[in-house]
Amino acid sequence: MTSDFTIRPARLGDAEAVFALIHLNRDLLVPRSLGNIVENIDRFLVAADGADIVGCAAYQIHPELGKPEAATVEIQSVAVRAPWRRKGIGRALVDGIAERVSVFRPHEVVVLTFAPEFFSSLGFAEIPKTRVMHKLYTGCINCTKHTDPFTCPEIAMERKAPSGRGEG
Ligand SMILES: CC(C)(COP(=O)(O)OP(=O)(O)OC[C@H]1O[C@@H](n2cnc3c(N)ncnc32)[C@H](O)[C@@H]1OP(=O)(O)O)[C@@H](O)C(=O)NCCC(=O)NCCS
Repeated sequence: MTSDFTIRPARLGDAEAVFALIHLNRDLLVPRSLGNIVENIDRFLVAADGADIVGCAAYQIHPELGKPEAATVEIQSVAVRAPWRRKGIGRALVDGIAERVSVFRPHEVVVLTFAPEFFSSLGFAEIPKTRVMHKLYTGCINCTKHTDPFTCPEIAMERKAPSGRGEG
């Protein structure tokens, strides 16, 4: 294990490693099938340490949150393999996703997370879960751990897109 890593767009050949990484963190992340990862591979970034995939992150655009012309982007499936944590890989992945989606000029970037300290260190702030109501209905309704999204300890957070970001 080194602290050298590269952040790059995921390739189809990374899908199984991404699946394994999300599955390893299944108590903290929404599960994804291998097929779901493959069909959304263009929305993933990975962190590679040599041939090892040591981190991943993805995004989804939500036209139903905000206005369609300035929709909200949700950051999803952020995970770093345990031995590689606290080396800046998670930050680099989230910043990479934020940079990638900035060209779409979203209204805001949100996340539903059990790791609020990590995201607050990246400039995210807590928001009421009612702001992401649609997400709660489509995602949380299928949760097998909690019956009520409003008592579930997951935190909703947002980072406003800096004005002018993505211009040009
Ligand atoms: C959350 C996670 C992605 C962070 O990855 P990471 O590579 O360790 O994060 P970074 O090294 O980039 O940390 C950046 C900053 O976030 C904060 N941070 C990271 N992990 C933290 C933790 N466990 N507790 C408190 N603060 C934390 C720190 O301020 C850190 O900066 P510092 O190391 O200089 O103090 C990783 O711990 C993980 O995979 N957890 C399991 C899955 C998960 O919870 N994913 C998020 C759900 S969306």
